[in-house]
Amino acid sequence: MEKLAIYPGSFDPVTNGHIDIIKRGLKLFDRIVVGILNNPTKNPLFSVEERREMLELSLQGIGRVEVDTFEGLLVDYAIKREAHAILRGMRAVSDFEYEFQLALMNRRLNRDIQTVFLMTGLRWIFTSSSIIKEAARFGGNINGMVPAVVNQRLREKFGHRPPNT
Ligand code: PNS
Repeated sequence: MEKLAIYPGSFDPVTNGHIDIIKRGLKLFDRIVVGILNNPTKNPLFSVEERREMLELSLQGIGRVEVDTFEGLLVDYAIKREAHAILRGMRAVSDFEYEFQLALMNRRLNRDIQTVFLMTGLRWIFTSSSIIKEAARFGGNINGMVPAVVNQRLREKFGHRPPNT
């Protein structure tokens, strides 16, 4: 039986840390559905369509991955997609408390879905979408932290030119 995991998140925008978790998740699961939370109340920088496009372009050439969007409860979406697990990445200890709460709440809501954590690659330990947005907003160099398409979209969004031009 095919093992499917949902990799949920805001992905506002996708970072190289997310891509690393997806690639490593594919070693455990047959297929991964990247689920972008469509929640306008979170006041995202990028629309859900923009986030989806950036993810799809960043994942080009990587098989067994699908990008989708969802609203409402994650566990309901996981059931709808007939997923076996929720995949989450864990960076530093600071992630632990939130992830623990999320996983326990999801387990309470549905005991059939397991949450699987992968430790982030050491290179991406300090890579977060919010820090990257903050740096990009003020023209900081974020080369190597996000896929090229995201770097370009952030520069367009904030009206900056590439570094050293
Ligand atoms: O990338 P993020 O913002 O850390 O992802 C958080 C996400 C999308 C996984 C979480 O907010 C979520 O699952 N939201 C959907 C609503 C839900 O099911 N919440 C958990 C139980 S209350």
